[in-house]
Amino acid sequence: MTAVAIPGLDNAPTTHSRVLEWVREVAELTTPDRVEWIDGSDAESERINQKLVDQGTFVPLKSKPNSYWAASDPSDVARVEERTFICSAREEDAGPTNNWMHPDEMKAIMTELYRGSMRGRTMYVIPFCMGPLGDENPKLGVEITDSEYVVASMRVMTRMGKKALDKFVKEDGTEREFVPALHSLGAPLEPGQEDVPWPCNDTKYITHFPEERTIWSYGSGYGGNALLGKKCYSLRIASVIGRDEGWLAEHMLILKLISPENKVYYIAAAFPSACGKTNLAMLRPTIPGWRVETLGDDIAWMRFGEDGRLYAVNPEAGFFGVAPGTNYKTNPHAMETINKGNSVFTNVALTDDGDVWWEEMENTPEHATSWKKQDWTPDSDEKAAHPNSRYCTPMSQCPILAPEWDDPNGVPISAILFGGRRANTIPLVTESRDWQHGTFMGATLSSEKTAAAAGKVGEVRRDPMAMLPFIGYNAGDYFQHWIDTGKRADANKLPKIFYVNWFRRGDDRRILWPGFGENSRVLKWIIERIEGKAAASETPIGWVPTADQLDLNGIEDTPLEDIELALKVDPEEWRQEIPLIEEWFDKIGEKLPTSLRDELEALKQRLG
Ligand code: GDP
Ligand code: PGA
Ligand code: MN
Repeated sequence: MTAVAIPGLDNAPTTHSRVLEWVREVAELTTPDRVEWIDGSDAESERINQKLVDQGTFVPLKSKPNSYWAASDPSDVARVEERTFICSAREEDAGPTNNWMHPDEMKAIMTELYRGSMRGRTMYVIPFCMGPLGDENPKLGVEITDSEYVVASMRVMTRMGKKALDKFVKEDGTEREFVPALHSLGAPLEPGQEDVPWPCNDTKYITHFPEERTIWSYGSGYGGNALLGKKCYSLRIASVIGRDEGWLAEHMLILKLISPENKVYYIAAAFPSACGKTNLAMLRPTIPGWRVETLGDDIAWMRFGEDGRLYAVNPEAGFFGVAPGTNYKTNPHAMETINKGNSVFTNVALTDDGDVWWEEMENTPEHATSWKKQDWTPDSDEKAAHPNSRYCTPMSQCPILAPEWDDPNGVPISAILFGGRRANTIPLVTESRDWQHGTFMGATLSSEKTAAAAGKVGEVRRDPMAMLPFIGYNAGDYFQHWIDTGKRADANKLPKIFYVNWFRRGDDRRILWPGFGENSRVLKWIIERIEGKAAASETPIGWVPTADQLDLNGIEDTPLEDIELALKVDPEEWRQEIPLIEEWFDKIGEKLPTSLRDELEALKQRLG
């Protein structure tokens, strides 16, 4: 191999041969000015943040320690599902829901894009670990990136730097596997060319090679496209590993619910992006005596423990939460977490006194700088913050963090919730009859599109298990994996599956259920169903409470009729839903498990 002299390339703080080889390969292809190996230290973080300030990417906040405001290029604000690919060797392994290209063809295209793409920039090598470092089989990765913003964000979102790198070579010298994750902004700098605050490229590719367990991302600096430990590794690649090894990688929050009798329950819930995971994970119950602690707000890895129960671990170490709508009333715990500092705010508004603001936050400023870097006042026609603006903040600062969040064994799950954003049809809560019926609920989950992904907001689409953009293989095989998972344990040890909808609307488009802290009433009902204590009514779609079967004591400002409408099972609405489910199942095609077709037929029968 001809050694190319790139400063820093040879300063590798590891002997891991595949890491060394791969980093050299990438450096030779992308030709950065220098290479930096990220150790995760405070001094390093200060230097990177200062560089971001000097470049104009970050503006330091005056109101919170070690916190920064960033505004992206207006074209680079969300995940780009159209540009996201699963490049399995065979097209059928990507299935009908993913974009596919043959790996050789994709690599040929992207290799040319990467050639020289880091010119004039620094190439950072970030060793990271998804999940607790204490795991006997830690899930390692290395992200190579030319973005300081990515380095700063990965520091919040993952366990990274030296503490992760120390896991790469075992004490006996054997080298562990890791997921190579390559990211470039696609914005090389010519000598003397001035940088822009948010470099990116109009051409974007977010690509996964599931057989090789490799990620290549190009052209975007936005979180879900660029922080490759998150959706790319922990969902798309991990779902493939989970299929092969018999576990589940899911788009789920994990919360701990403590009853007035101090009994502890763990709940996992899958909602599509921007449909309430972070809020539910940090919920402050409005019913007396019940408490919630947080373990995760976005991703759960679940495997069976020796006792036959399903245990969940959150692979992340930070929250990448939707900012608009977050305030002291809806999510006080998120507000307290971010106010401790050490956070990055992207595409929110910057106030004149050096704080952040977004729609529905308290204390609307008289003047601010919008996410588009324009003057903003309450009279402005445009929003101050982009609807998909985000805070990136360390989990360790969450005032209700469950102490067991870092336990490699995870926590035993009692209930799994699926939920979406539907203005009609789907009641506030429905209990499934059994695991197979619950899998049917998940597989047919639907939601209105949100700003978390580029595209038309509001359109109803099927989003199975809230994983539509994140299943790393054929969706039919994924459903079968869920069905099989239910057969691997005693039925009485499996979590009970529920379907929730916080977003049903009345005729005038008002949201019927108050949501947020009031969702604790639904959680209480769910736990009491599991304990055999709460009543429910049998309906064609499953077990649904009537208003008097929910604890509505002290609920404020919500008329009973609205709650009844939120709980309503309307057979006519459901009959209209059937052809949509049929169309969806037809799209899945021959790999759709027959047991799910059977569930659909049974539902049709029950609807009459
Ligand atoms: P995530 O992306 O799934 O984590 O979703 P978030 O928890 O960040 O919430 C996304 C949006 O939905 C925010 O604007 C929230 O204010 C809103 N939201 C969350 N929970 C509820 C709820 O229970 N009711 C209503 N009406 N809105 C909610
Ligand atoms: P979320 O994830 O939208 O599910 O919160 C972040 C992202 O990928 O943009
Ligand atoms: Mn979230």
